[in-house]
Amino acid sequence: MNIAERFALTERPRRLRSSPAMRALVRETRVNLDGLVQPLFIVPGRDVKTPIGSMPGVSRYSVDAAVRECRELAAIGIRAVLLFGVPDDKDAVASGNYDPNGLVQSATRAIKAVLPQLLVIADLCNCEYTDHGHCGIIDERGDVDNDRTLDLLARTAITYAQAGVDIVAPSDMMDGRIGAIRRALDGDGFSGTTIMSYAAKYASAFYGPFREAADSAPAFGDRRTYQMDPANGREAAREVRLDVAEGADILMVKPALAYMDLIRQTREQIDLPVACYNVSGEYSMLKAAAEHGWIDEERAVDELLTGFTRAGADIIITYFAKEYLKRRS
Ligand code: PBG
Repeated sequence: MNIAERFALTERPRRLRSSPAMRALVRETRVNLDGLVQPLFIVPGRDVKTPIGSMPGVSRYSVDAAVRECRELAAIGIRAVLLFGVPDDKDAVASGNYDPNGLVQSATRAIKAVLPQLLVIADLCNCEYTDHGHCGIIDERGDVDNDRTLDLLARTAITYAQAGVDIVAPSDMMDGRIGAIRRALDGDGFSGTTIMSYAAKYASAFYGPFREAADSAPAFGDRRTYQMDPANGREAAREVRLDVAEGADILMVKPALAYMDLIRQTREQIDLPVACYNVSGEYSMLKAAAEHGWIDEERAVDELLTGFTRAGADIIITYFAKEYLKRRS
C-alpha cells in the first residue's frame, strides 16, 4: 500500500490543471480588456516623441503626435487614455493648468476631433504646472493650502470639461476636492462629466520614474502632508467613504502592487467601479528586470494584471496597456 492509498487521497485538485484547455475551462479571473487605460504625457511642440529614460517604452508626445498614438491605441482596442500635461512654463499658482488652450485641453480637443469614441480621462493635479512641484498653492508655512487649491482644481476641471474631457481624475489628495469639483462642474452645465477619484492615494516611492516623466518632483519637502501614509488601510476606507459622499463616480487605489488589500477592501466596501493605478515604479522595475533577463516580462505582466483583477479592480491604469492588448488581440 502506498502513502496515497493509506490516507485515502480523494481530493485531487491537479485534475483541473492537467492541460491548457482544462486550465482555461476552469479559469476564474480574466482581465477586463475594455477596462485598460493607457497614460499619455503631453508636451508642447509639434511632431515630438521623446522617450522617457526611466520608463523604457514610454514617451512624451506633442499634441499632434499624441493623436497619432491614440489612433494606434484605438485600433488595437484601447478604450480610454489618461492625459498628463507637462508644460515648459510653470509658476507658483499652476496657471498653465486652467488655460483653456493648455496642453490637456488642446490634446483633448484634437483627440476628440478624430476619435470621438475614445474616452479621454484627464489627471487633475497641479504638480506638473507649479514651479515648486507641489500639488497646490503653498501657504506661509510652506505647506499646501487646501482650500485655495480647491478653487484652482474646480476652475481647471471646468476648462477640461469644456474641452471635451469625459472623466476628470483628481490626484491631488486635498480634502473636499470631489465635492468642490462636482459642484463646479454641475454649476457650469457639466453634470455629465464623470469623476474618477484617486481616493486612496499613498505617498509612495513607486512614483519615482513618473516624476522624471512629468517633471514634477517637489522642489522642497515631500507630499506626506496630503498623500496617505502607506501603513494606513482603515484610513483608505474613510477616504473612499468621503469621496463617495461627495459625488465620485469611480474610485481608485494607487499604487496597485503593494496595495492589493485595499483594492479588495474598496471593492467590498462600495458598489461603484474600482480602478487601480499600476504606477511608474511598478512598470520600470519590471522593465529593468526583464532587460537584464531576470524575469519573463510577458508572463509577469499577465500575472500582475490578473492579480489586480482578482483583487477586485474593474479598471486598470497601466503603462503596459498597449503592449498587453496587442498581444491579446
Ligand atoms: C500627480 C500624479 C502623480 C502620479 C499620477 N498623478 C505623481 C505624484 O503624485 O507624485 C503618479 C503616477 C505614476 O507614478 O505612474 N499628482
